[in-house]
Amino acid sequence: CGIIGYTGSGEAAEVLLRGLRRLEYRGYDSAGAAIVNDGAMKVVKRAGRVDSIAPLLDGVEGSTGIAHTRWATHGKVTDGNAHPHTSCGNDLAIVHNGIVENHAELRAELEARGHVFRSETDSEVIAHLLEEALRGSKDPLRAALEVCGRLRGSYAFLAAGPALGKAILAARKDSPLVLGFADGAAYAASDVYGFVEWADDAYFMENGSVALITPEGVRAALLDGTPLEVRPVKVAFEMATSDASVYAHHTLREIMEQPEVVARALAPRPEIELAAGALRTAGRVFAVGAGTSYHAAMVARYAFAEVAGVDLQPVLASEHDLFLRWMDAGSVVLAISQSGETADVLEAVRAARAKGARIVSIVNVPHSTLERESDLSVNVRAGPEVGVAATKSFTAQLSTLFSMALEAAGRPPLDAERLRQLVTSALSSEGSARAAGERLRDATDVYIVGRGVHYPVALEGALKVKELAYVHAEGLAAGELKHGTLAMVEEGTPVVLVNPGDGTYVDTISNGEEMKARGAFVIGISERPNDLYDLHIPIPEARGLELPIVEVVPLQLLAYYVALARGAEIDRPRNLAKSVTVK
Ligand code: G6P
Repeated sequence: CGIIGYTGSGEAAEVLLRGLRRLEYRGYDSAGAAIVNDGAMKVVKRAGRVDSIAPLLDGVEGSTGIAHTRWATHGKVTDGNAHPHTSCGNDLAIVHNGIVENHAELRAELEARGHVFRSETDSEVIAHLLEEALRGSKDPLRAALEVCGRLRGSYAFLAAGPALGKAILAARKDSPLVLGFADGAAYAASDVYGFVEWADDAYFMENGSVALITPEGVRAALLDGTPLEVRPVKVAFEMATSDASVYAHHTLREIMEQPEVVARALAPRPEIELAAGALRTAGRVFAVGAGTSYHAAMVARYAFAEVAGVDLQPVLASEHDLFLRWMDAGSVVLAISQSGETADVLEAVRAARAKGARIVSIVNVPHSTLERESDLSVNVRAGPEVGVAATKSFTAQLSTLFSMALEAAGRPPLDAERLRQLVTSALSSEGSARAAGERLRDATDVYIVGRGVHYPVALEGALKVKELAYVHAEGLAAGELKHGTLAMVEEGTPVVLVNPGDGTYVDTISNGEEMKARGAFVIGISERPNDLYDLHIPIPEARGLELPIVEVVPLQLLAYYVALARGAEIDRPRNLAKSVTVK
């Protein structure tokens, strides 16, 4: 799921290892690297962490190389299926993200021509195809174009090896790849975090293009062979600051950063005005997202209805098909994505665009594919989010969406300074969240419930508990409990009430009573204490749109502390990837 390549005069092994570590946050289950040195190549790969290949790279010399962290799609998590994959002659190695859809037929064809495969992956066909193409063609860029012409599906791949000397071949289609340039060295990576500490001149490869990278420069072309002019852009220095420093985990640091993040996201900016203008004149409004970003879309539904009278339809990116029939030139699609690279979201956006809809994206990673494919893009300004579980990007998305809704309604924005203080105060309930987290250490199921706008916040809280702590958690509309889930409640079942003192308070308390009467252990998130709560996590007095931002903070802390108590791997939960670039 992460790719890094380097060619220059330094030791490739060192650069690649560091780059891989910087990309670890994307989530993965295997790691590997290929180092090229004067006509020879050393490949190391292992199922497991980057740390497991580090000793194997000790003393491996060479100033060109490629490396990879794999998140399994085709083929189990084994050493053999880890990347790089090599050609038969061992003079070429490739690393690949994405899915080669026609791999089975390509493999059969290549085997018939005598190629021997060493893995179960779809990716390995690329190494063999490229080996053949390089034999027939003097120009490696032409060879890459030939190979891409054979592949169906999505890919970002790098190739290096004695066959290419000091050059690295790169290709991308529907999967991200960025090149970086510094004095006498070139880099390639899935995202700029991979190399930003060495190079701040970045070139975001065009979707559907190939590039030949050498320490001296780069040549690129579209898949139809049209040459491309490569114009690097400067990437922001702030991208380099992703250090857990005083915190035990990136995730905790990112939770703690939220007072600043929210204030920054609430700052007025021209893109928000433009987006509000588009919303004012829109016919139908949709908000597309996956995972946490979908929960932001659900919260936005309540906010847009409440403050702007806009009927915003949240759409799960992977289920967008159903909604296409209502999309037309009058529609506005808000595409919400932290990474801006989620395949499901990109696919939904492309389908919506084909129906004539206007795309307004709400992203965190600048220059992302989604940003570049939108009519208008608003950055949520959360800064790099390294923990796989989204935390600060969620509150930044909410802040940005609320600003848009208020602007569209001609109402004043939320007070950024006040929100900063409210979130700071919500963070001060860390002690109670920790106590609740420790109480839930051995829980097998947790129910998190809320009404109205607090319902999607409950869903988000449950997602955090699952992702971080691997405890089954369910978010529910409080009123729905009695329609089925109540059957699950028995002595000691933990229930979290998202229960601020607004119009939902009394009804949510009643639902809590129903659970308590069946033995539930009730944790209440509220500014008001209540005898119903076995454990109270206090939040500050807040109102209206401030509430979802304020109340999700203790839920994030709760999930973090359940995970900590259980010894889970918090920043990189098993099986998950930060940005899922496959469908
Ligand atoms: C992955 C991550 C989730 C995230 C979702 C959407 O599944 O593990 O944490 O919410 O993708 O990501 P996006 O970058 O589009 O917001």
